[in-house]
Formats: sequence, structure tokens, C-alpha cells
Amino acid sequence: MNTKLGYVLLAAGKGTRMHSDSPKVLQTVLGKPLLGYVFDALRQVPPNIVWTVIGFGAQEVRSVFSGRDLQFILQEEQLGTGHAVSLAWPEVEASGLSHICVLNGDTPYVPVDEVEALASMCAEEGAAMGMLTLELENPFGYGRVIRSSEGTVLRVVEEKDFDAVEHGGEVHEVNSGVYVFDVGRCSNLLAKIDRDNAQGEFYLTQMISICSEAGLPIVGMPFGNSELLRGINSPMDLVNFEETLRDWIVSSHLHAGVILRNANSIVIGPDVEIEPGAELVGPCEVYGCSRIERGAKIASHCWIKDSILGSCQVKSFSHIEGSRVWAGATVGPFARLRPGSDIGQNARIGNFVEVKNTVLHVGAKAGHLSYLGDSEIGAGANIGAGTITCNYDGVRKHRTEIGAGAFIGSNTALVAPVVVGEGALVGAGSVVTKDVPDGVLCVARARQTNIERKKR
Ligand code: UD1
Ligand code: CA
Repeated sequence: MNTKLGYVLLAAGKGTRMHSDSPKVLQTVLGKPLLGYVFDALRQVPPNIVWTVIGFGAQEVRSVFSGRDLQFILQEEQLGTGHAVSLAWPEVEASGLSHICVLNGDTPYVPVDEVEALASMCAEEGAAMGMLTLELENPFGYGRVIRSSEGTVLRVVEEKDFDAVEHGGEVHEVNSGVYVFDVGRCSNLLAKIDRDNAQGEFYLTQMISICSEAGLPIVGMPFGNSELLRGINSPMDLVNFEETLRDWIVSSHLHAGVILRNANSIVIGPDVEIEPGAELVGPCEVYGCSRIERGAKIASHCWIKDSILGSCQVKSFSHIEGSRVWAGATVGPFARLRPGSDIGQNARIGNFVEVKNTVLHVGAKAGHLSYLGDSEIGAGANIGAGTITCNYDGVRKHRTEIGAGAFIGSNTALVAPVVVGEGALVGAGSVVTKDVPDGVLCVARARQTNIERKKR
């Protein structure tokens, strides 16, 4: 049967149990916000039929996802999940969708295939709503699913309203927080949700008893005991989920042919690509949209984010963000590549060198103790120990250009904007404030005088 399915994501809650001033849906797992997982899982869904209800920290949520095509609905006061859905409902009704899937934004995994199957099943059975349920050994914290003796779903009882004695013993089937609603059948029923419960909130889960009391069928589709569909409410939930996902990601890279030594201490984000034949040693962390290519060797204690590493060598304790390192280059130990660093083929960045928004062409070298910012270093140039590009005048940033084959002596300050020509040689200890033409020797330091000491 044909269904036209859209999505409402609930992301307005504060997440009191997380003990954080940030909205819970921005808490990260492997460097990526919870809500980012949900958005990515729905990438194939047209953005005009996905609504995200935000409230606590709404501005922060908007700004984290500012580059994306999203529709937000503001829930100024977080009066409960039922209230959140009712705010989105006018948009849902106006969209002409047959069904709407509601998801909790604190559950990063979205079982898209099962949601579609659930929607089809609701359509076939003429159900008003459906839900995915979990079977948990320890159901604490979840809404318990109460069924009749024939197995019909009757209602969901929230943790704070649940009493094992009153409800005939512990119930292990729980609400996963993944629902499908038939838009036409549910439109008049949503308004029946009240606050008559232990928390005084409008619970979305009251819709189950409302539907069942109205004699409308409800589909309760079991989803096993999967770790994946656990809601993340507390730091413990967050870290447990993160560890489960980390372990899974590391194993899948190992299976694919990546060498991960000391694998238990390697953290790899969900969007990182690593080619078989690359090698990493733990502990190390790789996040964001990084790509590590075949032949790359990353030693222990490195932190890498949003960077592309060709078949290069990164030695221990290097920190690399928003950068590109080409084949044959070596970086570290103790190097810092900040965003916009481009380390060319066979180039070398040594220990205690900080690079930002700078291109090093083929074979250029900066071996020790330098800051290279907003600069371009020509092929084969050699940057002596302690060289600093003075790129900031207190107001603006300026560029430094160093030609191919130039040699910059140790402890040189290059006061930008400044150009050092190809093959030029700058004497150690120079403070270079004017351009240096190709091929010349520049010495910009006080002349040494040796003065006889008076004999005492
Ligand atoms: C909810 C369900 C529970 C289910 C569990 C699954 C309700 C009442 N209970 O409980 O049956 O077993 O999820 O994980 O729905 N939110 C809003 N606005 C609000 C309140 C919450 O947008 O006013 C959002 C939160 O940001 C969160 C989601 O809704 O992403 C769920 O809220 P949460 O407080 O975590 O509900 P649970 O107690 O986990
Ligand atoms: Ca939750």
C-alpha cells in the first residue's frame, strides 16, 4: 500500500539527566552531535518533509547545523513530547503526507527500513499508529508497553508512573521512541493528550491509550534488544553508546584491511574514511570528515580532524585539523597543523612546528620550533629552526611568501606582508621587514661587535 511518509524529530528537551548546560541533542558521540546522526540517517528524505522541534538552546542547535537545509519548529516551553508533536502538527497536516514518523532526537540510530516497513504495515492494517518496541532485561527509564492477553497494544506507562504491583509485574517490552502516525486518523486525537501524570507533562505516549480507547488498531513492532535504539539520557548512556559504536567502527576498519595496532585505544568517528593498507597505532583519535589513504602511517597519540592524509608518515603526538598532507611527507613528532595547512609531497614538518593556513610545496622543510601562518613556502625551501612568520599586526592578518629553494636561517622573524624570493638566503637571526629579491643574501640583524674587556 502506498504511504507518503515524513519525519518529526524531537530535540527541544534540556536533558536534565545529562547535567550539562548544552542541549542534550548536541552532546557528541565520537565527535559528532547526537542530532547530526539523525539528520544524516535521513539524508535521502526530502528536507521539506522533515521538521525538527527545538527549544532548549535552540540558537545553539541552529548554529551547529547552520549549513544544512532544515525546517525547525520552536517549542519555547518544553511541556512534553506530546506538546512538541502538537506544535509540528499543523505543518504535517498541511503537507499532505499520509504518515508521519516521530523520532526522539536523543537516539542517534534511525532504523529507516524498519520505519518504512512500520508505515506500510500501519497502512495495510488501517492502524492509527505504530511503534517499534524493545525487549530489555532492564527496562528502567523507558515507557513500558502494556498489551492485552491477546497481545493487542493497550498503552504505554512511563517510568515515573509505573508500578510493578499495579501493572501485574515488571514489563520488559518498552517503547523505543520511534513511532509512525496515520496523519488523517490522528489529527483529532492529539488534542486529547493531557498532563494527568506523575511529571505533569504532555506525554506523546498517551496517544497509545487514546487510540486504543477509540478502538483504533495500533501496531507494536518488536525491534529486539538492540543496543542501537537506546535513548541517551545520562553521561553513562552516552559513554556506553559511544564505546559500542567505537568498537563496531574499529572492527569494521580492521575487517576491511586497515592495520589498527592497540585497536582498543583508537577512536574513529563515524564519517572517517580509511583505506585498506593504512596503519594507525593507538592511542589516537580521528574525527570528522577525515580520509586516511593507503600507505599512510600514523603513530600513537595523534589527534586528527577533518583532514586528508595521503601516503605520509605522521609521528607521535601530532595534532592535525582541517589539513591536507600529501604522499611522502612527514609530520611530527609534536607537530600542530591547524586548518588550511597543505603539506606537499615529500615535505617535512618537524617537532614543535605550528602551521596554519599555509602551503608547503614539494620537498619544503620546517624541521624545528617554528610558526608558519598565512604563508606559502616554495618547493625545496628550508625553514630554519625558530623561524616565525609575524602574520598579525594586531588588527589584520598578512601573508608571507617564500620562493622555491630559499633558505631561511634559524631564528628569523618574517614580518608580513613580505616576500622572500626564489633561492634567496636569509641570515640567522634576521628580522625581515622588506621583500628579499630572488637569489640574494639578506642579513637583517645587528652586526656583531667584539669589544676588548678592560683588565681588572
Ligand atoms: C521517552 C518516552 C518513553 C520511551 C523513551 C525511549 C515520552 C513521554 N516517553 O522517554 O516512553 O521509552 O523516550 O527513549 O515520550 N523533547 C522535546 N520536547 C519536550 C520534551 C522532550 O522535544 O517537551 C524531546 C527531547 O529532546 C528528547 C525526546 O523528546 O530528544 C525524548 O524526551 P526524553 O525526556 O528523553 O524522554 P524519555 O524520558 O527518554
Ligand atoms: Ca530519552
